[in-house]
Amino acid sequence: MQTYICRMLLQQTLIKATEAGAAIMKEYFDKHFTVSNKEGINNLVTEVDHKSEEAILNVIKKEFPDHYILSEEAGEIIQESEYKWIIDPIDGTVNYANGIPICCVSIGIEKNGKMQMGAVFNPFINEFYFAERGQGATLNNKKISVSNKTEVIKSCLVTGFPYTYLDTPNGPLQVFEKFIRKGIPVRRLGSAAIDLCWVAAGRFDGFYEHKLSAWDSAAGFIIVEEAGGKVTDLTGKYYNPYQPGLIATNGKIHDEVVKIVNGGEV
Ligand code: IPD
Ligand code: CA
Ligand code: CA
Repeated sequence: MQTYICRMLLQQTLIKATEAGAAIMKEYFDKHFTVSNKEGINNLVTEVDHKSEEAILNVIKKEFPDHYILSEEAGEIIQESEYKWIIDPIDGTVNYANGIPICCVSIGIEKNGKMQMGAVFNPFINEFYFAERGQGATLNNKKISVSNKTEVIKSCLVTGFPYTYLDTPNGPLQVFEKFIRKGIPVRRLGSAAIDLCWVAAGRFDGFYEHKLSAWDSAAGFIIVEEAGGKVTDLTGKYYNPYQPGLIATNGKIHDEVVKIVNGGEV
């Protein structure tokens, strides 16, 4: 009973916090807000990222003042706790700053180092994704599952590019070129959390990105897994959100995507 209450409270707080951040995103979307640079000229942070983060943190701290928090703009609130909240107050900030409504709030909860719950909300198209370990994944409370495609050549993929160019062998541009030369559609939405959710919903068959942070992927990671998909690092090993590379697919095309991302032919 105690565990059930705790789970329910965690879930309710996660949903409330995600909605609180998303309400701020909506409120300021067509208003004037300040935009500044982080490292790199186009790695932006807006006033709204901070406001969304504040609203999210208020909800979490009120219910769980002793939980560990890792949030993109505020950094870490280190606490002795089995729970860790991993927060991206706006994923897709460049989109947001340009009035492009492909952006969201993304929050994951780890329990004892394992991703336990995740929520991603894009309030502009009213899509709320949620997953809890062992319970499946939902979009607006309806179960979702990954696609059934079995071949990369017939797949629709999505990727993202880092703010600073990654000049490494099999880097983002080389891999992109490989797919594009074979005529495989590879979209670029500008929000890793949404990319992951759209794999979970079966819209994309796979997503890969070379350089992400834990807050970009934490929630989407469990949403894809609970929708029946597979998430690994770039080498095909089980995903760890504290290292940069990620491949998320419907599972069926996974090995082929891993091979291509590592220099293999399509
Ligand atoms: C970014 C987005 C983008 C990805 C970048 C991320 P932000 O997050 O998820 O899709 O390509 O690597 O940094 O800066 O908008 O929170
Ligand atoms: Ca992000
Ligand atoms: Ca962000």
